[in-house]
Amino acid sequence: MSAPTFCAYNLHDLRELARRRLPRGVFEFYDRGTEDEVALANNRAPFERIKLDPHLLVDVSRRSQSVTLFGERHQMPLAIAPTGSAGLGWYKGELALARAAAAAGVPFTLATGSMTPMEELAEQAGGTLWFQLYMWPDRALSHRLVERAQAAGFRALMVTIDSPVPPSREYNLHNGFTVPFCFTRRNVVDVLRHPRWLLGTLARYLVTSGMPRYENYPTEMKQRITALPMGRSMQLNDSLTWDDLRDLRRIWPHALIAKGVLSARDARLAADAGADGVVVSNHGGRVVDSTRAPIEVLPQVVDAVGHRVEVLVDSGFRRGADVVKALALGARAVLTGRPTLFGTAIGGEPGAARALTLFREEIERTLALIGCATIDQLGPQYLSLPPDIVPPARRRAPESMSV
Ligand SMILES: Cc1cc2nc3c(=O)[nH]c(=O)nc-3n(C[C@H](O)[C@H](O)[C@H](O)COP(=O)(O)O)c2cc1C
Repeated sequence: MSAPTFCAYNLHDLRELARRRLPRGVFEFYDRGTEDEVALANNRAPFERIKLDPHLLVDVSRRSQSVTLFGERHQMPLAIAPTGSAGLGWYKGELALARAAAAAGVPFTLATGSMTPMEELAEQAGGTLWFQLYMWPDRALSHRLVERAQAAGFRALMVTIDSPVPPSREYNLHNGFTVPFCFTRRNVVDVLRHPRWLLGTLARYLVTSGMPRYENYPTEMKQRITALPMGRSMQLNDSLTWDDLRDLRRIWPHALIAKGVLSARDARLAADAGADGVVVSNHGGRVVDSTRAPIEVLPQVVDAVGHRVEVLVDSGFRRGADVVKALALGARAVLTGRPTLFGTAIGGEPGAARALTLFREEIERTLALIGCATIDQLGPQYLSLPPDIVPPARRRAPESMSV
């Protein structure tokens, strides 16, 4: 039997389907940015200014998009970004998404703020699993979480370094959506208008494990968490420094990735602190509302540290051609956040698989159309760039450098 398409023929279709299935509070939490959403809109803008330059009459009959990330071979130059609360869109959504990632041959990153316990996910998902860490104010508790991730078999630790305090996302307050979920007059009406989500997701939690909550928090912390608007409920640490990354380097034996870098300076500091990789990211426009788009910063980061660490990028990637542009600018791979979340929210594992299939087919088609057979041949020669985006002077590091 062929895989379901959900009548979604691009990633925008998946978003629209998710908008219809999810209560407004959950959909907006997934979809929107921070404050006036300037960064969110700007993340897409550079993709329109970066053009592709096709090379014609090239034999592209043997195409490959497989890539080595931190020493492991994967089928696509993609990884699933950490998204806290993926389990709110679909019952055990993290598990569904992780299984789809394993089947597609891409790494899955479990967020600290996920609703599936990491041990359960590691047992049931398969594939390459990475763990995302938000450091809590109590560093010792965070280090214990890291030890749990290591014991459970996670292959990389992705430390998010762009969030010393919670961002301001006022729509969550308007919508009255909180974690743990609590009923208010406003969100009851919202939920009743979305019976498929009510019965298929919320009711299933209620009859099994109770209200969805942050399952990886230590028991003592879980009990202390009162309902807060989504996105505010994480307890963040505003005293972190590069020494904290160095401490994590000492206790974590596998790949260490710093997520949220937006300058060559910070990329160098991350590499100096022992990171094996950086993610150039503005959190999908969800943290600081006036940053440059990561794709604009990417070439500078590749120039600064691409010979020392693996450079990944995310925020705003909605087409295979966007991924091809980032690889041509020196990224090793792209993280996808919302597209695979929306896929999961409309159909669990097959829905997430649909998002990944769309990416794979579009990357494949774009490679053929620009006359490039394999992604390691991609470079600025396939791009026509606006004056403000200067391609990296250095090429990406050879794959043999991987840890
Ligand atoms: C609903 C949602 C939850 C997120 N939660 C986290 C998180 O817990 N930790 C983190 O580092 N990034 C988180 N992010 C950011 C993503 O990891 C990623 O940087 C971003 O989604 C990429 O942009 P894109 O959604 O346009 O692909 C979240 C993003 C979304 C949409």
